[in-house]
Amino acid sequence: MMRSIIFIAVLFAFVGCQEAAQKTPNANTDVPSTDNIGAEIYKTKCAMCHGADGNLGIGGAKKLTESQLDLAALKTQITKGKGTMPPFEAQLSAEEIDAVADFVMGLRK
Ligand code: HEC
Repeated sequence: MMRSIIFIAVLFAFVGCQEAAQKTPNANTDVPSTDNIGAEIYKTKCAMCHGADGNLGIGGAKKLTESQLDLAALKTQITKGKGTMPPFEAQLSAEEIDAVADFVMGLRK
């Protein structure tokens, strides 16, 4: 619960207030909205190994819903990779890594 509050707070800080009023889920539209950027990156760069819900675990990846990494460690792992997980520093900007890390934090229950 605390984590989701932090997640939402960070997400709002990330997108600014421009989209804050528009919080309706739009998962079925083709155009990604800016407040969904972390989810979009996750879908295109991470879900093939980790699954849409974070629990697929291809190649021995831990369930992201049960991960104990803090936000800083999570960002480092996304940036640098680990084991069979590829590094994303060449593919994603720092802002995009922030966004997807926030999204991954939000997968935890
Ligand atoms: C090619 C498959 C692959 C892709 C793509 C991938 N991962 Fe991973 N991920 C792994 C594997 C394998 C591990 C386990 C690494 C290890 O500990 O040796 C892992 C581990 C992790 C962990 C650590 C979990 C823990 O608690 O130890 C996080 C967080 C994570 N991935 C997030 C992401 C995110 C976010 C993306 C997209 C930007 C992503 N991964 C893309 C395969 C992948």
